[in-house]
Amino acid sequence: MLKTTSVMMRLIAIGFALLSTVAPLVAQAPGRFPPDSLLNTQVIPRSTPVMEVVGMMRNFALDLGVRCQFCHVGEEGLPLEQFDFAKDQKRNKLVARQMLRMMNDINRRLDTLPGLSGAAVPVTCRTCHRGISRPMPLFAVMIEAATAAGADSALRAYRTLRERYYGHDAYDFGESSLNTAAFRLARAGRFDDGTAILNFNESLFPTSSALSVFRGNIQLMRGDTSSAATAFLQALARDTSNAEARGRLRSIGRK
Ligand code: HEC
Ligand code: HEC
Repeated sequence: MLKTTSVMMRLIAIGFALLSTVAPLVAQAPGRFPPDSLLNTQVIPRSTPVMEVVGMMRNFALDLGVRCQFCHVGEEGLPLEQFDFAKDQKRNKLVARQMLRMMNDINRRLDTLPGLSGAAVPVTCRTCHRGISRPMPLFAVMIEAATAAGADSALRAYRTLRERYYGHDAYDFGESSLNTAAFRLARAGRFDDGTAILNFNESLFPTSSALSVFRGNIQLMRGDTSSAATAFLQALARDTSNAEARGRLRSIGRK
């Protein structure tokens, strides 16, 4: 499940592909870039100026954090003249075409919003993708990784993502992502994974009162009322105004 493994596999696959295709590619007559005309666009009108299409394509790549070959037949490092942009061979291109249709539908609906003053805020690929090809919230990435391979592996993925994306809007590295992941893992009966993720989060946010409430709630799910009470008391020690901690203590008869 870990992205690093599949990225490695893909790199290896690309390596083999390069070895086996260098000769035929070199022998092929080079095409032109930008092309003279559009050959196989099914959503973008054929009358669109080619340079406008190339601009849209640059945005697709930036919005998803990928390169042209994510969708098109061609290899990293080879000149764009040797890409076959019209070919529909890669799944990602077919998915992107559906996404384009979906995005156009959304924007058409936005234009019919009641009481709209001026143009609607346009939805772009970035609205959802935020620089990543699979736009999943961080807590969901954590749950998926922990469920497939355990908390250690999920936390390794977290560190890698944080290193690469911190300061971008791709993932929310605030404290709530790991609190949510821990809570939902515990709710699915994965108490140890949830607790390990919460402990790691506490090393990042050591004074968080909300985190202590999550810890208490997980202890309650586990049926450990006295550890839960300790956690709720800690939440109040960290923030005396934490109403949820106060309410939980009352409901378990500790205050
Ligand atoms: C996320 C997928 C994706 C990425 C990344 C992407 N494209 Fe495309 N590209 C498409 C799709 C989908 C179409 C077809 C659109 C349609 O059917 O209307 C297309 C069409 C094209 C075409 C027109 C081909 C024809 O039919 O004549 C060109 C040229 C092109 N892309 C160039 C590029 C370049 C250059 C890059 C990198 C800067 C790039 N694309 C990146 C998805 C992508
Ligand atoms: C309304 C939100 C939304 C918009 C707008 C959107 N996407 Fe997506 N896109 C998604 C979601 C969600 C997925 C993941 C689907 C899945 O695999 O479960 C996805 C997946 C994809 C994938 C497959 C990625 C992979 O690794 O499997 C491609 C390619 C893609 N989108 C391209 C685009 C392009 C290009 C645009 C802009 C024209 C776009 N998307 C706009 C939500 C969106």
